[in-house]
Amino acid sequence: MSVPTIIVTGGAGFIGSAVCRYLVENKLAHVVNVDVLTYAANLTSVAPVEDSELYSFVQADICDAEAMAEVFKKYQPQGVMHLAAESHVDRSITGAQQFIQTNVVGTAVLLDAALAHWRGLSEEEAEKFKFLLVSTDEVYGSLGEEGLFEEVTPYDPSSPYSASKAASDHLAIAWHRTYGLPIVISNCSNNYGPYHFPEKLIPLIILNALHHKELPVYGDGSNVRDWLFVDDHAKALWTILQTGRLGEKYNVGGRNERTNLEVVETVCGLLDEMVDTAPEGGHASLIKFVTDRPGHDARYAIDATKLEDELGWKAEENFDSGIKATVQWYLENESWWRPILEEKYAGERLGL
Ligand code: NAD
Ligand code: DAU
Repeated sequence: MSVPTIIVTGGAGFIGSAVCRYLVENKLAHVVNVDVLTYAANLTSVAPVEDSELYSFVQADICDAEAMAEVFKKYQPQGVMHLAAESHVDRSITGAQQFIQTNVVGTAVLLDAALAHWRGLSEEEAEKFKFLLVSTDEVYGSLGEEGLFEEVTPYDPSSPYSASKAASDHLAIAWHRTYGLPIVISNCSNNYGPYHFPEKLIPLIILNALHHKELPVYGDGSNVRDWLFVDDHAKALWTILQTGRLGEKYNVGGRNERTNLEVVETVCGLLDEMVDTAPEGGHASLIKFVTDRPGHDARYAIDATKLEDELGWKAEENFDSGIKATVQWYLENESWWRPILEEKYAGERLGL
């Protein structure tokens, strides 16, 4: 089968697993999922494709130069989609060093491994090779009430997480300008959908609400995020890898701005309709306003015009149907989240 071989780092995580499923299920690529399997990883998320001949898994650390050289040598990829990262802002506030190690050092190690591989390719093969760094809108810092993040918005990160992602973006551009490595960068807004680890707002609220636990809303709940369904992100990433211009950045977003309180109330309203175990007063009665996140960015909102006009991608899922499908997925997939709560996560937030 003549499909390209693509290394997907972090393919056992939330977005990486959606990318693996999308590419393999649609027979678009042979995916080599390179993941060290941190607390955030879950191989069950790639179970739908794990038996395919178009899927391979390598358990390895992107900070391990030898292991990365080995992966490139063995699989001879035509592209890289780099998603492996420490991704949770709150964890970066209490433990920044792991974020520097994975997101900065790991990205530099991976860039070097890709560079060595690319330099060894024939001219024809080298022309086809591309390295996509998957990044975040958080590198731009915070918006006021007006305006949108554009690709030219200056970087102004607020948290150790977003600073480490900004650093990795700069490294990728440096490897492009200095060594010629064919790089493209995507900066996406908040994703939501199935297989989302329950430390992030939406799955945390769904599972806490189902267990009649408090629903922690930071500050007054007025912070705004711009939500994109994860499968739309996976499609955008493939589009950018295929047709994005080298050395360019593309913002990815679905124009779905919501305050955190709106998101939490929406989830509560859906659960009120979908389960018959609602607490007295409904699930929203569980909302508790708690101490704000330090350095909490007020508002994110993406202008995805460049990606839409230049590469023809458009978000397909709207927030109202996407969030309903997501709540439904969690109701139907206790076998996915129960082991996470019991084995890895218990006590940290849910106290189960
Ligand atoms: P995640 O935390 O769910 O998954 C990260 C994955 O990377 C895990 O499977 C983990 O095991 C793996 N990993 C971590 N360190 C590694 C290492 N040293 N070597 C190999 N693998 C390692 O993250 P996510 O939410 O799926 O995010 C994926 C990427 O997308 C990240 O780069 C993140 O910054 C970016 N991003 C996320 C969002 C979002 O809303 N979640 C939005 C925009 C961009
Ligand atoms: O914008 C893209 C980013 O989105 C990605 O780069 C990150 O990897 C991803 O984790 C996400 O970051 P956020 O910090 O926006 O996501 P989180 O789910 O942690 O929080 C969403 C909002 O909800 C944020 O304003 C903080 C708030 N929040 C979060 C949690 C966990 C709460 O109010 N209560 C909570 O318990």
